[in-house]
Amino acid sequence: MQAYVLDWLSLLVRWFHITAGIAWIGASFFFVWLDDNLNRQVSDAEQRRGIDGELWSVHGGGFYHNEKYLTGPVGAPLSNDLHWFYWEAYSTWLSGMAMLAIVYWAGASTFLIDKSVLDLTPAAAIAISIGSIVLGWFIYDALCRVFEQNEFALWTSIGIFLLIFDWGFFHIFGARAAFIHVGAVIGTIMVWNVFFIIIPGQRKVVRQLRAGEVPDTRPGFLGKQRSVQNTYFTLPVLFIMISNHYPMTYSGPYGWLVLAGLSIAGVLVRRFYVLTHFKKIVIALPVAALVLIALIAWAGAPRSAPAAAVNVPAVSYAQIAPIVAQRCAVCHSAHPIEAGFSAPPAGLLLDTPEHITANAALIRTEAVASHAMPLGNLTNMTDAERAALGAWIDSGAKAP
Ligand code: HEC
Repeated sequence: MQAYVLDWLSLLVRWFHITAGIAWIGASFFFVWLDDNLNRQVSDAEQRRGIDGELWSVHGGGFYHNEKYLTGPVGAPLSNDLHWFYWEAYSTWLSGMAMLAIVYWAGASTFLIDKSVLDLTPAAAIAISIGSIVLGWFIYDALCRVFEQNEFALWTSIGIFLLIFDWGFFHIFGARAAFIHVGAVIGTIMVWNVFFIIIPGQRKVVRQLRAGEVPDTRPGFLGKQRSVQNTYFTLPVLFIMISNHYPMTYSGPYGWLVLAGLSIAGVLVRRFYVLTHFKKIVIALPVAALVLIALIAWAGAPRSAPAAAVNVPAVSYAQIAPIVAQRCAVCHSAHPIEAGFSAPPAGLLLDTPEHITANAALIRTEAVASHAMPLGNLTNMTDAERAALGAWIDSGAKAP
């Protein structure tokens, strides 16, 4: 019953999370685009009013005219009816953390811990999960402060720091959880950039303007720097959000490198789009991203069995049936007996000869070619059992 309630909770929170995320990233992409596309050739009169650039657009049957004031309108009060954009970011983060709690903390021994990676207690694993997310922010924030004036050093050090975390998570948690934690660290950095840097800076400037003071330009500089970083973090985080559906990315021994490579591809693609705002079409960027993805796919492609394996004695269904029953069907059956499961995960049943033979190819990818299943090797499947399953599938996957 508890697992069933958690499943519904997870559904509601996930639904909310992607909706909030779309609202946030949508608004954020729009403002990056708007700022980059402003027509800065403004008239003298407009310049005197403090206008830095403007843009006309058409959408949904109407025409819109945006004007950007760098530090508020000159000689006129700032509107009292100022719309702020932050709930989109905050609610994405809050729902993301709620999901982390429902899936990875409540189900720590199933989803977070992989005893073959590191034998942690649930309490220790959860403490590491929370601690690393907070620590990630402090490291990132310190790097931004130290290398404030040196973009190259800043980006390089952020890359190295994230790579170390990526590698570290792979050596602490199960692989799926490791991916999600890299995403949680980056997502937290993005939202805390909004909460701790961008919005407080904007509040300060608004306060100064309303008090008739000359506003500080520094908060604007810092806010811009962080929001540019956020825009490049977006595609890697979006990939991580969907990565759980693609065990070929996380289940190999070099999952952390695959994640790093795909993240770089995401940054290159975002860079391409940002440059198009300036009418620069740098095809080399998406091409480089595709080549990188192709290289990763090639490096991780399943290799055909070594010649010796072809001669292994044929394995019969009678030999593999107990393996599947013991190692897989505790989760993959209509009524899973494994704690924390109220329905067969991924809708996959491995409980009858028909279901097992029909899913032989899937079993091969997930439990023979990779160690993605059993999840976190919770049922302690041995390599000999994986080899037996492989041999049965290679000899035709026949059931009596
Ligand atoms: C502890 C529970 C558990 C055990 C034991 C387990 N699985 Fe899974 N399995 C899952 C979960 C959870 C998912 C869904 C993962 C996801 O959402 O990406 C899954 C997904 C899969 C998928 C992917 C289905 C698809 O359509 O993408 C396959 C294949 C699979 N399991 C095979 C196996 C095999 C084979 C075994 C035994 C060797 C096994 N599983 C043991 C929990 C388990």
